Amino acid sequence: MNVTSKYDAVSRFLHWLVVSLVGAQFVLGWTMPDVHRDTRPEGLIAWHLVTGTALLAVMACRILWRATHRAPANHQAQPLRTLSGLTHYALYALLVAVPLLGWINASSRAWRVSLFGAIPLPPLSSAGSSFGHAMGDVHGVLAWALFSLICLHIGATLLHRFILRDQTLQRMTPW
Ligand code: HEM
Ligand code: HEM
Repeated sequence: MNVTSKYDAVSRFLHWLVVSLVGAQFVLGWTMPDVHRDTRPEGLIAWHLVTGTALLAVMACRILWRATHRAPANHQAQPLRTLSGLTHYALYALLVAVPLLGWINASSRAWRVSLFGAIPLPPLSSAGSSFGHAMGDVHGVLAWALFSLICLHIGATLLHRFILRDQTLQRMTPW
């Protein structure tokens, strides 16, 4: 395969870093204790906040990098290119929206949100706000939408690898 048809090293590194953080974030989101009115952000919940804000910071770098660096040329048929382009845009949008909604909900619970557990971040909603409370539900629903898209994305990769037998997977692999 032509080497230039691979994503650049920084894009590949950021892709797999995001995969690890999102994977951890789903495990934490689904195993941490249920959050109620008096719940404190401790244990697995604290880890959910730390991983989620780190993910948001990495996504900011990734979007900046992507906006300034072209993706490698894609020689798939036009309908496949359109479909994968739409899926990738939706993944980017949800990878920003889901953490922001979680942060809005955490602020409405008067939880202090910080980057890497060290750099304090401003609240995105006022303590006790009903808007912030409602955004917690939207956070949960959109997390499912993100999970579904990720399954579709991985399914498409496997389809390329084992049915179409093309080099699409290698565009994003470290080797
Ligand atoms: C892509 C990143 C994220 C994913 C995939 C994710 C996923 C999830 C999931 C699956 C749940 C459980 C929802 C339920 O069972 O109803 C959850 C709950 C929660 N997450 Fe996240 N989360 C992310 C980022 C964040 C961030 C950055 C914060 C805060 C800074 C956050 C704060 C919360 C809070 C407060 C809850 C409890 C919401 C409630 O029950 O009202 N999340 N998250
Ligand atoms: C949390 C899980 C994942 C997320 C959120 C994700 C997200 C993304 C995004 C947003 C892109 C578009 C990159 C761009 O053009 O800027 C992409 C590309 C790609 N991803 Fe993933 N990905 C995930 C998991 C995986 C896995 C597990 C694989 C391999 C089995 C994979 C293989 C690829 C490949 C091969 C491309 C390049 C596609 C192309 O050239 O059109 N991804 N991914």
